[in-house]
Amino acid sequence: MTSSSRAPRGFSGARRRMLAGAAALPLFALGRSTAAPAIGADPLCGEPAATSRLHVSGASGYLGRLAPRGAPLTLLATTGDGTTPGRLAYRVHHAGRDYVNPTLVLRPGERVRITLDNRLDAPTIAHWHGLAVDTANDGAGLRLAAPRERFAYDFEVRNRGALYWYHPHPHGATARQTYDGLFGVIDVDDDDHAALRRALDLVPGRTELTLVVQDRRRGGYGAGEQHARHGFLGDEAYVNGAPCPFVDAASRAYRLRLLNACNARTLRLAFRTAAGARVPFTVVGNDGGLLPAPVAAQEAFVAAAERLDLVLDLTAAPLGETIVMESLAFDPMHGEVSPADAPAAPDAAPPAAAHDDHVRDGSVAAASATGAPSRVDAAAWPDGGARALMTLRVRERVRYDRRMPATLSRIAPFDTTGARERPLRLGFNKGRWRINDRVFAMGETPIEVARNSTEIWLLRNYHTSMPHAMHLHGFPFEVLERETSPDAVAALAVDAHARLASDLGRKDTVLVWPGESVRVALRFDVPWPGPQTYMFHCHNLEHEDGGMMLGVRVA
Ligand code: C2O
Ligand code: CU
Ligand code: CU
Repeated sequence: MTSSSRAPRGFSGARRRMLAGAAALPLFALGRSTAAPAIGADPLCGEPAATSRLHVSGASGYLGRLAPRGAPLTLLATTGDGTTPGRLAYRVHHAGRDYVNPTLVLRPGERVRITLDNRLDAPTIAHWHGLAVDTANDGAGLRLAAPRERFAYDFEVRNRGALYWYHPHPHGATARQTYDGLFGVIDVDDDDHAALRRALDLVPGRTELTLVVQDRRRGGYGAGEQHARHGFLGDEAYVNGAPCPFVDAASRAYRLRLLNACNARTLRLAFRTAAGARVPFTVVGNDGGLLPAPVAAQEAFVAAAERLDLVLDLTAAPLGETIVMESLAFDPMHGEVSPADAPAAPDAAPPAAAHDDHVRDGSVAAASATGAPSRVDAAAWPDGGARALMTLRVRERVRYDRRMPATLSRIAPFDTTGARERPLRLGFNKGRWRINDRVFAMGETPIEVARNSTEIWLLRNYHTSMPHAMHLHGFPFEVLERETSPDAVAALAVDAHARLASDLGRKDTVLVWPGESVRVALRFDVPWPGPQTYMFHCHNLEHEDGGMMLGVRVA
């Protein structure tokens, strides 16, 4: 069935109104927001307890913006100094400045030379999530740096402007090392981003804020955590290293560039006023950079490793207003446990039923038979539970009359004529999450692709599954269509192919819900000689470490 022959599904009046709003392009006025339904959201975070101020990336320090401009860097993987969350940190000393988990600011075409210096007591490797590099530079875990060893990267930035990121990728320890604090963002900056900044008068670090969201747990990452069937769930939401921080804002537009750096948690991102009125926003970009055009939205799902680039208009916000950035409640669709096996969760309120069964490989039946939830602390923020993430306090009235540009970037769709379609099924069997019924084996490449070819991958998730955030190294893809999406997802569709605002443009990670099929187009351009190997995996890091990953050989 071709997508173009299919009738639009799930189109709602509400969505048409939102699209019309985007076409008209005045930034949104708060006065027109509708009251949010009561969905059990937390009270404003920080009340009554004081919260911390949002840490904003500066010219050095934690998440500091570092533009190497071709100069070599040494990235030290080491222990943290206690000022940042997590036991571990990446440290860089460059041009007289010290950075922790630096934001690498790069330009297309720039040469990048980074030496990873492993000062951990375990092997590690750094992966550049979203960057199109050869296998030798991908840091996918085929080669590791042993303790006290160095690993040299040397590559060219071939991507368009977007927010990418870096994190460890040693198979089996990726989840723990990432949770422990080893990650940073990569801001590939290009002319389209410069044009957007000019149009909206945005200044990085002031009115353009990069927000790294990570859920953390007071008890830290436990020994059995990597076997958690639903992945690691923290009980607190951290943004740029602090739980539910606040930032002082003026009555103008803000660009928020969000990375979901949670190991496993999907966010259903939305904004509201202190009184509970929903504040709409404009999606301008995602994993692969700026969308062709802005799209109005009330909410967006952001899965683990996904990025969302949005503009929040506070021009109509009265002085003293507080805007809450939150994750709304949703059904996390943990359908992989058959009803007969499901542990009873009598206290959990639907739809966010907490059955955080802690299942190890091969012991599903035994664990289910006990019916005992093995973790109580995870229930503090169950999967799909509502949570305030951050607040923006309007403290200044300013004149602001900029308008959102009608065009943000130009991206030619992939030409898929004659493209081979490859089905990839996501599911759970014999205690393991699997792709095409297989689990990862180092050195094996069950997916073989011809270099410079175009393929269509049909990602199909079983009904008896859970959502999986599927990521391919090396090759940004185009989401062509979604089919049989769950209602909560279908309601957010913005076109006849049931795509979401956050699906448009280019992607490197896409969330596939139970019972859903997502068709993506990929272009395997490989300028490097010889066969190349990449990873295709679920970015729920516990699923990845547990083997929900396949090698891809491009030759
Ligand atoms: Cu974010 Cu295999 O990576
Ligand atoms: Cu990656
Ligand atoms: Cu998964």
